[in-house]
Amino acid sequence: MEVDGKPYRTIWQSDSGNVAIIDQTKLPHAFVIAELRGAEDAWHAIADMQVRGAPLIGVAAAYGLALAMRADPSDVNLTNAANYLATARPTAINLAWALDDIRHTLAPLPLTQRADRAFIRAGELAAADVAVNDAIGTHGLALLREIAARKHGRLNILTHCNAGWLATVDWGTATAPIYKGHDSGLDLHVFVDETRPRNQGAALTAWELAHHGVPHTLIADNAGGHLMQHGEIDLVIVGTDRTTASGDVCNKIGTYLKALAAHDNGVPFYVAAPSSSIDFALYDGSDVPIEMRGENEVTHMTGATVDGRIETVRIAPDGSPALNPAFDVTPARLVTGLITERGIVAANADALARAFPERAKAAA
Ligand code: MRU
Repeated sequence: MEVDGKPYRTIWQSDSGNVAIIDQTKLPHAFVIAELRGAEDAWHAIADMQVRGAPLIGVAAAYGLALAMRADPSDVNLTNAANYLATARPTAINLAWALDDIRHTLAPLPLTQRADRAFIRAGELAAADVAVNDAIGTHGLALLREIAARKHGRLNILTHCNAGWLATVDWGTATAPIYKGHDSGLDLHVFVDETRPRNQGAALTAWELAHHGVPHTLIADNAGGHLMQHGEIDLVIVGTDRTTASGDVCNKIGTYLKALAAHDNGVPFYVAAPSSSIDFALYDGSDVPIEMRGENEVTHMTGATVDGRIETVRIAPDGSPALNPAFDVTPARLVTGLITERGIVAANADALARAFPERAKAAA
């Protein structure tokens, strides 16, 4: 997508041969490009959320393994670096998926070819992510048009967290249909959940939509249910960090509450789910490992002062403990449909296995 008239992706190989990323911890106040020079840099970029969002985490880990191969292409380092990068964050399945792909690509190759091939393969995974999100956008746009045709006036979409282009290599998953709809003249508007505690909605989704000129309104996380009760939301579209073989959806904390409110109010609840985020080896959503993050993300907030300084302030009493689970699981029964690159798929084991037979078979 474009930033101030210049096209960007979220990750690329820089002219120096290292890996360039948009540092998302600086947004929305500054647009900063950072460089990753080794596997440790990639690990920290993922763990500290300079890059985040399931598809981008996967591609960043792939590039991290390429950087590790440049330093030492041995079998031992291939195993150790892949295992190390896999520990950066536990929930999004894309991390393990991308690392497995690179490992299997490199394992049969002579050591002298491994680094070059790893960079090429990481680039292919990045390109594939863009193509997948483009396809999700096309299928999702048909859905938006169908729902818009049934109502008069503007289509109101609610989204949670950031499943936008910043969370992927480009397009985003939940936002791909939104960008395509907006660009093709569909009258739409997005309610953006702020998404406490890290505020990916306020900091990233609102920034993205504003830069693309998409009409949007930021809301406190707790406002969604009220808006649904008052007929203000036509559909919900969220992303996913890991969707299980049975269609349970693990996504940013708070997604489950949105799904419950949508169910109670008859609002369609869709999940934009690239196949790289579907874990066919895991059936039950309650088995997804949920990342626990630091208390300070709950007890403190960071923002810009009126004179432009970035400050972190405490919002809770000194000494009050806090708990910070980063993701929750929405049971398949609350999901209206999964918008995948192969079309809209029902959130159940049969439909997923029919849509992705090769993945289901490989995991069996
Ligand atoms: O903790 P984050 O910011 O990495 O969480 C991101 C999400 O939960 C997204 O909704 C999900 O990764 C889908 S991104 C296309």
